[in-house]
Amino acid sequence: MPHKVTLIPGDGIGPEVAAATRRAVDATGVCIDWETAELTGRIIQECGSELPQAVLDSLDRTRVGLKGPVTTPVAGGFQSVNVALRKRLDLYANVRPVRNLPGLKTRYSGTPIDLIIFRENTEDLYAGLEHEVVKDVVTSLKVITRTASLRIARYTFDYARREKRKRITAVHKANIMKLGDGLFLRCTRETAAEYPEIEYKELIVDNAAMQLVLRPETFDVLLMPNLYGDIVSDLVAGLVGGLGIVPGANIGQNHAVFEAVHGSAPDIAGKGIANPTALMQSAVLMLGHLGEQQAAARLHAAIERVYLEGAALTPDLGGTASTDQFADAVVKAVKGVS
Ligand code: NAI
Repeated sequence: MPHKVTLIPGDGIGPEVAAATRRAVDATGVCIDWETAELTGRIIQECGSELPQAVLDSLDRTRVGLKGPVTTPVAGGFQSVNVALRKRLDLYANVRPVRNLPGLKTRYSGTPIDLIIFRENTEDLYAGLEHEVVKDVVTSLKVITRTASLRIARYTFDYARREKRKRITAVHKANIMKLGDGLFLRCTRETAAEYPEIEYKELIVDNAAMQLVLRPETFDVLLMPNLYGDIVSDLVAGLVGGLGIVPGANIGQNHAVFEAVHGSAPDIAGKGIANPTALMQSAVLMLGHLGEQQAAARLHAAIERVYLEGAALTPDLGGTASTDQFADAVVKAVKGVS
């Protein structure tokens, strides 16, 4: 039986990296029945609804999505469809593993970075509750609930136990947001008490940012509310080579949508030079989720081989290869990896 997967190319560089990733996944030989669904900034503007019904119907059929980025207008225009999708499908856990790639020269090449960010994905300032109280005075509400905080904490600790990770650091700003982040911390502490074999630590987010830059190798699993997770993810992506590399998974009770950390990169869209590694690595996570561990391992090993050889890197990493040439190299490596 083929797996059914909804492929959402998105917009900007999305269609380019999605096509490359689909080729790489298909090269593993796993049988996937792809349903392509259109979700772009343009279509949202045209249909006037946050999320086209066709996309939701497809995800209800397949339960699994592989998604490219979708553009959100800055300071005005429609709300983020990415946030809307996560809320609508209740994809409460955002998981972002960050590791050095072998052979890739970065400022931290000699430092063994292997950490995972767990980001609460449904509330915090992403609740989108903003209000102009009087002209030129705006409030943006940060929503933290016990239910959502316990749920992401439980997911993170379960993951750490299963994958034998040693330490979880909760990241917060409870010295200032004593109630909101204070509640988040009470929930992470309560959960931590049930997992005595896992070391539990807490760091204020500004200090966490500095420690991550100074000593990224000392971090294992990081657990945080939505906004800090968004910002810290890009910071740690910068440690291992940039946004072209880091994958992500949005996990809920009934659905899972896999997407890169990066956005639609309008500055390079349409040029054929986007790095598809981040979406390919997201596809590795997706294959694991589908129970295709061997195919996941083959694709992961193929990507690592291409980096070790270093001949097909895209311009964001100092290379000259196009998106397609990088994909060609991965496809060739997948076929060569037994
Ligand atoms: P961005 O991630 O699109 O780009 C930031 C920088 O990284 C740019 O210089 C870009 O060229 C580079 N970059 C990103 N991905 C790359 C790749 N795969 N290969 C090579 N270079 C890459 O962030 P930005 O510019 O802040 O956002 C652009 C749009 O994307 C916005 O509308 C934003 O809302 C949207 N966005 C969508 C996301 C999603 O769909 N999940 C996530 C983040 C942003």
